[in-house]
Amino acid sequence: MLELKHITFDAPASKSADGREIPGKRIINDFSLDIEQGKITVITGPNGGGKSTLARLIMGIEKPTSGRFLLDGEDITEKPIDERARLGIGYGFQTPARFKGMKVRKLITLASGRKISTNECNEYLSAVGLCSGNYLQREVDKSLSGGELKRIEIASVLARNPRVAIFDEPEAGIDLWSFDKLIDTFLQFHHAQPDHALVIISHQERIMQIADRIVVIKEGQLDREGPREEMMPTLMIRMPQNPTCGMAAVETTIGQWSLTEEGVR
Ligand SMILES: Nc1ncnc2c1ncn2[C@@H]1O[C@H](COP(=O)(O)OP(=O)(O)O)[C@@H](O)[C@H]1O
Ligand SMILES: [Mg+2]
Repeated sequence: MLELKHITFDAPASKSADGREIPGKRIINDFSLDIEQGKITVITGPNGGGKSTLARLIMGIEKPTSGRFLLDGEDITEKPIDERARLGIGYGFQTPARFKGMKVRKLITLASGRKISTNECNEYLSAVGLCSGNYLQREVDKSLSGGELKRIEIASVLARNPRVAIFDEPEAGIDLWSFDKLIDTFLQFHHAQPDHALVIISHQERIMQIADRIVVIKEGQLDREGPREEMMPTLMIRMPQNPTCGMAAVETTIGQWSLTEEGVR
């Protein structure tokens, strides 16, 4: 459905606020992937590996240095963000923006691109675990906690209902109860629309468990990918009780889980 073909992204050299020269850097290196229709793809890997950058490249927020993006066979590499959104690509940021003066109701209505009832707006909010209080009249500003903001943004992506929906670490700042609800929401959303593709960037085992495919990005490159059943055993071990024991194969700690090269030992 969405093909990434040999995507490379070099961040240009820049200057820091205090005038220091920051050299350019290759962030994504010859990355290819086919995001399949009707599948849940979970992208994981060490922090700083390039996951969010890849999502921004897919959305058109960054331009690749080389490589092509094909959506249903059509080359969309040169298309700007709004055009990609119109074609059905949607992205929930790792750190969503706040919009002072914008009410939640307006944000969700704008995202949906149509007139929607108060009930429907509330359904999107309760689908992400925001059930109590009148969120619709709240402003999308500093008064919202990070977790509330994150969930409101997820609700707005659901309301937009893109054909390719990308959620960047949706678990961030979300309590366990809401997290359960969120996973149910993703599954319902996904099952209701078998012609869509759901891409979730996550470190959470519970999210990986709903994946059809799991993709690992490391240092800007495709480290490995495959069906969940094949990938899970290569990814997850619980942190050893004694961290000095068996750490040799532990490559990168991700939350309470670790990525390993060898898999479960
Ligand atoms: N525009 C940019 N300019 C310079 N460095 C960047 C830019 N975008 C991302 N990076 C760097 O690229 C690396 C990958 O970042 P990111 O995509 O956020 O990783 P992840 O989401 O996997 O944690 C990080 O080292 C980050 O600092
Ligand atoms: Mg990220």
